[in-house]
Amino acid sequence: MRLLTVSNLTKRYRRGDKAIAAVEDVSFHIDFGETLALAGPSGSGKSTIARLVLRLIEPDAGRIDFEGSDFLALSGAALRARRARLQMVFQDPLAAFNPRATVARVLDDPLRIHGIASRAERPRRIAALLERVGLASELAPRAIHEISGGQRQRVAIARAVATKPSLIVLDEAVSALDVSVRGQILDLLLDLQRQERIAYLFISHDLGVISAIAHRVVLLDAGRVAESGDARTVIDSPQSAIGKALVAAAPRLDRVSRQEAS
Ligand SMILES: Nc1ncnc2c1ncn2[C@@H]1O[C@H](COP(=O)(O)OP(=O)(O)OP(=O)(O)O)[C@@H](O)[C@H]1O
Ligand SMILES: [Mg+2]
Repeated sequence: MRLLTVSNLTKRYRRGDKAIAAVEDVSFHIDFGETLALAGPSGSGKSTIARLVLRLIEPDAGRIDFEGSDFLALSGAALRARRARLQMVFQDPLAAFNPRATVARVLDDPLRIHGIASRAERPRRIAALLERVGLASELAPRAIHEISGGQRQRVAIARAVATKPSLIVLDEAVSALDVSVRGQILDLLLDLQRQERIAYLFISHDLGVISAIAHRVVLLDAGRVAESGDARTVIDSPQSAIGKALVAAAPRLDRVSRQEAS
């Protein structure tokens, strides 16, 4: 069984009296424990695909199979249960969470909502989650707006893993971080993947980051798949026009790929 199969996905938006295809006939798959990167220029449809896969928006056409079921056909309790297995991390956790909420509250929510731990058990689970993402448990009572950007992104990752997902969608999750913090967060993601076999749909415009974390890559151009394949092969010798342009535009690519590093 494949973890995720996206088939012929299409999403159009109206602009005046024209329909613009944000995503057009896009297909790809992700295996258990694998990282697939989505890359492409601004406006190529990356975030729209993320939102479609998360079912935050509905497609005009296409199909999404997740963990063996027709994800777009699920509703009610079956959808809620399956949603626990599919989590997300966005670029800006300040926008994703109530900035005045405490770290403990942000981590308590998924445990409570998905019925993962009893009220009495939850403080221990929260401490364990913080430890798992490399944060001190003293951070629990602090407000989201009081902690650093890197710490906030660790909290977002802790929140995502709280429900034991098989897939996490990360939309530019490390783009706002400075280089050293970015490296630490990528290491954390690699660690979690090794330990728990979580798959990532990893959206980034940064080919250096992609070569450090992704097994395979899909390059988008104006809503369509321009090229896809093994991350290192695509980045080393892109075949499509957009692939060549992205590689040419990338700042000095650190050619240490995931395969070489491990
Ligand atoms: N809610 C919306 N209403 C109208 N058009 C939209 C909407 N969301 C996205 N679009 C359009 O769909 C296209 C794809 O947008 P999308 O945000 O998916 O691109 P992206 O690849 O994530 O870009 P970026 O790298 O800038 O984040 C763009 O032309 C965008 O203007
Ligand atoms: Mg985007």
